[in-house]
Amino acid sequence: MRASALLVAFALSPFVAVAQPAPASAHVPAPSSASSRMVAQTPPMGWNSWNFFHRNVTDQDVRNAADELVATGMKDAGYIYVNIDDTWEGDRDANGVLHTNSKFPDMKALADYVHSKGLKLGIYSSPGPQTCARFAGSLDHEAQDAALYASWGVDYLKYDLCTFRSAVMDTQAPNDNVEQMRLMRDAYAKMDKALQAAGRPIVYSLCQYGWDAVWEWGPSVGANLWRTTGDIQPNWQSIYSILNEQAGLAKYAGPGHWNDPDMLEVGNGKLSLPENRTHFSMWAMLAAPLLAGNDLPHMTPEVRAILTNRDVIAIDQDRLGHQATRAYSEGELDVWTRHLSGGAMAIAVINAGPDRYASHPFHLSLAKLGLHGPLQAKDLWTGRQITLSDNMPVELASHDVLLVRVASPR
Ligand code: GLA
Repeated sequence: MRASALLVAFALSPFVAVAQPAPASAHVPAPSSASSRMVAQTPPMGWNSWNFFHRNVTDQDVRNAADELVATGMKDAGYIYVNIDDTWEGDRDANGVLHTNSKFPDMKALADYVHSKGLKLGIYSSPGPQTCARFAGSLDHEAQDAALYASWGVDYLKYDLCTFRSAVMDTQAPNDNVEQMRLMRDAYAKMDKALQAAGRPIVYSLCQYGWDAVWEWGPSVGANLWRTTGDIQPNWQSIYSILNEQAGLAKYAGPGHWNDPDMLEVGNGKLSLPENRTHFSMWAMLAAPLLAGNDLPHMTPEVRAILTNRDVIAIDQDRLGHQATRAYSEGELDVWTRHLSGGAMAIAVINAGPDRYASHPFHLSLAKLGLHGPLQAKDLWTGRQITLSDNMPVELASHDVLLVRVASPR
């Protein structure tokens, strides 16, 4: 009796169709309302205003970004979301309806413009009374704001914890961490319900910097993606430390629900070309959202070539959604692998050291990846076919990457 009851239960659950009963410690995603929206079946791709414009973004900057996504071929490569981050918000009127500030005179018209280009519009808010940049947040206005976004034609919401912590968590549950986390999860679930009631498929992006192992409960509050880290900066130290924080999170990613190691800094700050390449390669390996954050109208051809590398984008967008894992590290070199559909595999080797070739000749061990050479592979940055052999020497400039795709690893 018990065995057949178990079988029925498993047959009814959409999450265990392929599995034996899971051991108590295994990760079993909680039922996700996000999956019912059927958005973000691959990691979202697009552009976001924050990393370059910060507080200064205007309606015109967003229109320019939409124009450039089309003109540069980025739209054709998959970049669809045009996301306005913080600082678009104005005041609420007597009915509680939120208005835009003078930088964004007409959000509906802006949404129509973005949509007319075949793109989608994203917006930003906070479960707190104020956003991180101290503009109006959605606290106590969740349903009203979700309906407003839907009426404008918004397709994506980034919901950033910000002042919810001081105004609600610290105030309502001082010194009670468990209760504080419950309040936070409830706030995210509340906006999920509001978005669903608004009746438009809106990608739901959680931003609370990875607190309380958000990857374990994000799907249960409808999240399509959740930030796993603090804010990224356009320098190697930030990018490399965020990359390493992702080791161990692979099992939480999959179609409809993704780990978000933060938006791209490709083309920003003083990142060198190898650093830009490595950043982009590794975010693709991580099945991360690819949200460019650079100044699109002034992008160099080299940066454009990185952001539009179709082979690398195909790794990110692989339909299985299996995030890469770090296979091994040796000295200052790290090797990551990612399983792809059709039995293919991507291998990334990065040199995190300050010197060319690191401090020693590095030999890539195929055996440590469970593989045997020789193997035919495509180098995704040169476009050339190469042969991988056991213990082959790999020479990499400082902060550069070798990214290959092996069609038939076994
Ligand atoms: C936080 C987020 C950033 C950005 C800013 C906007 O710092 O982590 O990504 O959205 O707020 O104020």
